[in-house]
Amino acid sequence: MMKHEIQETAIPILQDQYGRIKRKLRISVTDRCNFKCIYCMPEHPEWMKKQDLLSFEALLVFCRYMVGQGIENIRITGGEPLMRQGVVHFIGDLQRLRALGLKRISITTNAHYLAKYAEQLKQAGLDDLNISLDSLDSMQFKQLTKKELAPVLDGIEAAKKVGLPFKINCVLIKGQNDDQIIPMVKWAKQHNIPLRFIEFMPLDGDQHWTDQAVVSEAEILEQLQPLYDIQLLQQQHEPARLYQLDGHYHLGIISTITHSFCGDCDRIRLTAQGELYNCLFAQQGLNIKPYLLQVIKQNTELKQQALLQLDQQIKPYIWHKAKGYHAIQHQQARKISMHMLGG
Ligand code: GTP
Ligand code: 5AD
Ligand code: SF4
Repeated sequence: MMKHEIQETAIPILQDQYGRIKRKLRISVTDRCNFKCIYCMPEHPEWMKKQDLLSFEALLVFCRYMVGQGIENIRITGGEPLMRQGVVHFIGDLQRLRALGLKRISITTNAHYLAKYAEQLKQAGLDDLNISLDSLDSMQFKQLTKKELAPVLDGIEAAKKVGLPFKINCVLIKGQNDDQIIPMVKWAKQHNIPLRFIEFMPLDGDQHWTDQAVVSEAEILEQLQPLYDIQLLQQQHEPARLYQLDGHYHLGIISTITHSFCGDCDRIRLTAQGELYNCLFAQQGLNIKPYLLQVIKQNTELKQQALLQLDQQIKPYIWHKAKGYHAIQHQQARKISMHMLGG
């Protein structure tokens, strides 16, 4: 091995100070979104400039490096990822990383454009999708997102038709859509669609979050208890706690506020401008764009050196990841919200 080479090894080496190994990478490909979910977007978003976004070439360099370091799942997020031109092609390019250890390529989408893209995404090699759907009531849906419900339902149908597995995400906000708990469960159970309720997190664009607006896991279960026989299942390595309803249907609840899964966190995320975040709630990201641009610019010999520099930035940043949601000071105003971090 040359002096400056980074060892690509099956041994996981993206590890933080609490021994948590990173297996899942979330990359936001745009902060733009055609929806305006109140728990995410600011009222007056200032979009990142298109020329400041990481190119797909740079993203591919980064993904290749990360897969070499033990990343097994890549989730593409936004904003709304289907608004970034070229994303389907990028998913096609990511297929090459499967030979290096990449196991799953996923996308989280609002599904507004899914009917148009489902077939192409399947062809490109996407494994699965998570779809945001916060209400089945078309008026309420419009209030929450400022868009129509019908294209989202069409998108869900299209995913089914082309055989793309998906889960539904439903963020609950008190007084806004908490009346959807029972209708959403009835609908999902009837169609055998995996559904996860999500506790509202303090990552909304305009920082209006208060704990009063959170619908807790306990409150969700309280509404469901009279209607279903509910058993808590063993939690897998994922954010949702799983409940079995009536002996067969599995409902997930992602309850960062009341039962955080930070102790098991295996995620790392990148913004569309190339800032790495070791936690959803991290106050400070790491700008890796200059290092990625160096790698792209250099000839083969100097590429390894540029990659080594990238490695020397990334590893300590990941190592210093804080314990988690409850350990991070939330008093300071946040510079970054959900639409930039991609959840
Ligand atoms: P899979 O487990 O791979 O299906 O994906 P996911 O549930 O992590 O992805 P998705 O984009 O659907 O996110 C669902 C919810 O989980 C969103 O509200 C995310 O913000 C939240 N979430 C994802 N990763 C983390 C994390 O590391 N910490 C916390 N607190 N929440 C997370
Ligand atoms: N709290 C919880 N979940 C959120 N999401 C967006 N903003 C928030 C928030 N403040 C969810 C969306 C999407 C996923 C990426 O993150 O519903 O499904
Ligand atoms: Fe758009 Fe997703 Fe944010 Fe909603 S949660 S505004 S769909 S990026």
